[in-house]
Amino acid sequence: MATPKDSSTRTPQEYEVLAGGGAEAAELARQGLSRRQLLRGVVGLTAGLVGIESIGAGLVFIYPTLVGAFGGKITLQPKASYPAAAPGEFDFDKGKGVFYEAQAKSYIMHLAPETPWVLSGSQFSDLADSENLVKDTDGSYWIAIYQRCVHLGCKFLFRNDCQSFKCPCHGSHYNVDGEWLSGPAPRSNDRFVIDVSGANVVVDTGKLNNTVQHPNDSTRLLQETAIQTKCD
Ligand code: FES
Repeated sequence: MATPKDSSTRTPQEYEVLAGGGAEAAELARQGLSRRQLLRGVVGLTAGLVGIESIGAGLVFIYPTLVGAFGGKITLQPKASYPAAAPGEFDFDKGKGVFYEAQAKSYIMHLAPETPWVLSGSQFSDLADSENLVKDTDGSYWIAIYQRCVHLGCKFLFRNDCQSFKCPCHGSHYNVDGEWLSGPAPRSNDRFVIDVSGANVVVDTGKLNNTVQHPNDSTRLLQETAIQTKCD
């Protein structure tokens, strides 16, 4: 019997195949069912004799976007299409500070230069680097947050009324920079490498950073605001 795979080691493409159906499918992923095991079950129920490798090839055919756009570098809109916002002024519906890009399965966050970061100097810049928070030439900051909740894989949403992300499944709560605020999520949000050095925003969906731990007093980048504290 195959050894269950640690969900933290899955690639985003694997995770999208296994967890794309929401919380129930995500639970399968959490239990460590590999793509091959999943396929084996399907084959057993239907034909029973089809080779696993051919089914694997079939999966690639069924999910062409998983081996096409998603999983590699994706060029998004020109930077001007993503107006920046300071904490407290984000508006998902009006397109201020927070944007969903389906192609990259990510939220693109653009934080204004006046964002009140808790840390400063090299303490801040070192941490920002390690958490894929990229400073632009105008002093604003960008981050590409992967859409899957790091608890059990539900797609979380941005809530204007909370000025933060809230997962609809079990309530994990994340700040606008992806930092964990509360709930069962074992770490902060996962994020992709983002490049804003050219005219367009580019996200490398083949490079996932899933190592950002819960913040503490020495690693927190943004304080929780009063409106976020009341988010339920
Ligand atoms: S999947 Fe459980 S809190 Fe998001």
